[in-house]
Amino acid sequence: MKAAVIPEVNGRWELREVPAPRPGPGEVLVRVRACGVCSNDVMATRGIIPFPAVSPAITGHEVAGEIAEVGDGVTAHAVGDRVGVPWVQAGCGRCDYCRRGLPVTGQTAMSCPAAVSTGFTVQGGHAEYMVAKAEGTFPLPDGLSYESAAPVLCAGYTSWSALRQADPKPHERVAVVGIGALGHLALQFARSCGFETIAVTRSPGKHDLARELGADLVVGSGKELLEVGGADVILATASSSAAASESLLGLRPDGRLVLCGLDGTDSFNLAPDPMRPIFSQRHQITGATHNGPRYLREALELVAAGKVTPLVETFPMERVADAVDRVAKGDVRFRAVVTY
Ligand SMILES: NC(=O)c1ccc[n+]([C@@H]2O[C@H](COP(=O)([O-])OP(=O)(O)OC[C@H]3O[C@@H](n4cnc5c(N)ncnc54)[C@H](OP(=O)(O)O)[C@@H]3O)[C@@H](O)[C@H]2O)c1
Ligand SMILES: [Zn+2]
Ligand SMILES: [Zn+2]
Repeated sequence: MKAAVIPEVNGRWELREVPAPRPGPGEVLVRVRACGVCSNDVMATRGIIPFPAVSPAITGHEVAGEIAEVGDGVTAHAVGDRVGVPWVQAGCGRCDYCRRGLPVTGQTAMSCPAAVSTGFTVQGGHAEYMVAKAEGTFPLPDGLSYESAAPVLCAGYTSWSALRQADPKPHERVAVVGIGALGHLALQFARSCGFETIAVTRSPGKHDLARELGADLVVGSGKELLEVGGADVILATASSSAAASESLLGLRPDGRLVLCGLDGTDSFNLAPDPMRPIFSQRHQITGATHNGPRYLREALELVAAGKVTPLVETFPMERVADAVDRVAKGDVRFRAVVTY
């Protein structure tokens, strides 16, 4: 099969011929049709987060395709089913974390020492075929294209989890910091639920697009967010801790800041503010990741219903390296999806 291989840390992705995997018991073989390039794939390529621990190194955790073969004991999937595979497929089931009995989430990947994580501990989806745990493979709603489904498997899953976790009340205002892959979906999710929604972007070139995606207001910083009245919920989806820290300026009393962006080089800080300390505002700072399969299902259904539309740039597999370059430069509007 053809697969996009990362030759080494900081290497340029190469389309290569490699042996196709076969499913073992409890696993499925997926014929990949589309796979998104997450900014975390770029961070893994650079070694900022762990480089894929598989050889050859094939990453990608926004996988959409169809079942080509099922391994022994698989009953929930059949050949031909349209499915998606997200980042975390399973925990080990035996460690202290797994024995708490929680759903498989991004927390599992960070807490279980033997979690199965797509494109990190096992082969990812930037290939014509990949093997996945049956339990970590989810049906795609009818009518949803593979190219639109792919970004939901990570970007949409995370941003919808963040909104659900913040649990905004009907009268509350939601702000989204960083209008990239996660952020452009977060804006649409918030707007489709009827919340007054504010985009916070450092990029003047995104103002019109943010409005088209449903932003009622567009501002450039937390300070400007405060000037327009602030927000009760801030979904921090920028890949910048500084942007998340600064956004707190625009959080209303009793507000919730949900951190979902990862910054490999800088730390999140609470600036000293004797006139408006965080306790006096009763602010809550929390985090969201892939918060559990029910949220993935909800996000997929909202997209399949046409209430939220991922904006994607589609690349044929022969141009996978160009796709990665555009993601690394922050040029993509808003998710690069590679077809296989
Ligand atoms: N929690 C999770 O489980 C999870 C899952 C997936 C991804 N992530 C993380 O979520 C973040 C966003 O991922 P993505 O794929 O959406 O990335 P992306 O498409 O590159 O978007 C990130 C956005 O962050 C803003 N940004 C980038 N650099 C910045 C800087 N130096 N200062 C301020 N803002 C900056 C930009 O928005 P503007 O131009 O609008 O300012 C950019 O479009 C990444 O950090 C990623 O690692 C987390
Ligand atoms: Zn991702
Ligand atoms: Zn475990």
